[in-house]
Amino acid sequence: MRRVKILALVLTCMFLVSCQGVRKDEEKTSLRIGISLYRGDDTFINNIRSILEDKAKEYELEKGIKVTLDIQDAKGSQNTQNTQVERFISLDCDVLCINLVDRMDASVIIDQAMTAKVPVIFFNRQPVEEDMNRWDQLYYVGVDAKETAILQGQMVVDLYKEKPEMVDLNGDGVVRYVMLEGETSHQDSLIRTEWSVKTLKDGRVPIEKITGGIANWERSQASAMMEQWLAAYPDTIELVISNNDDMALGAIDAMERAQVTGVNVIGIDGTTPGLEALENGKLLGTVSANKELYASAIVELAASCALGQETPAEYPLTDGNYYWTPQEILIHEIKENP
Ligand code: GAL
Repeated sequence: MRRVKILALVLTCMFLVSCQGVRKDEEKTSLRIGISLYRGDDTFINNIRSILEDKAKEYELEKGIKVTLDIQDAKGSQNTQNTQVERFISLDCDVLCINLVDRMDASVIIDQAMTAKVPVIFFNRQPVEEDMNRWDQLYYVGVDAKETAILQGQMVVDLYKEKPEMVDLNGDGVVRYVMLEGETSHQDSLIRTEWSVKTLKDGRVPIEKITGGIANWERSQASAMMEQWLAAYPDTIELVISNNDDMALGAIDAMERAQVTGVNVIGIDGTTPGLEALENGKLLGTVSANKELYASAIVELAASCALGQETPAEYPLTDGNYYWTPQEILIHEIKENP
């Protein structure tokens, strides 16, 4: 009799344990997502951050799962970011979304995440392939740099074909340009510079480089650089090619100070201030990633990993773990139909 009772008790316990295992996933009613930004004062990252917050709210309403975002600014320090990740894990975050400070230095974060079995969605600053291959719970959301650059070059190629006088401003058969580049260590900078120029050349725009420089994505650095170039090469610059909108806006600031008008400026990102400059014709064009999709891909992917679900089919992954956000050319309309 006693033996039967013990057996019944053991069976009941086994049943409860297995139910709890199932229940855990089925009944998860809240998610905690730890997000670390490489720099909170970066305009593009700031745009993505606010859309991320909206998308998390939308997800919460749609799925009835409470989503708490813990967003931290690493202020350009990889050590600070590593410590933030340690804290996220100690606070039991279900998943991490990391905008790496140093894309070559993801190993500490990956070690911590793997030990704690917390999946990671990296975004915007792409870890090297070797790191991404360390675990199947590592994902990346971003834009394809080569595609961005080809679109940036293409907008000038198309304009030149249609209205060459709008690109070759003095009509001498040569389009003289300056180039503003982002951080050297960033995967986007080199590729954007190379492919944008290559697209212009392949599209038979007769370009000639005057000079260029690294302004680290920053408006103020680009502005100072452009100020020098305007003084060193007066009445020469016809086109400013910038790796992002913020540096393009810096060049525009310098031209406004020097009262130089008419020079074409092209950027990348489609940030809020970038779109404003596009609207009022200060910026000729930009290449804009679909930020709604960019941010929802991060949230949906993070949630599916945290809940142990299949990755969402609306955000198709390339090579298993990469989501490439679609992007488009935005060009100032008056320039097209003056
Ligand atoms: C680039 C973007 C830049 C800057 C940088 C930060 O993709 O175009 O504006 O935000 O990322 O990593």
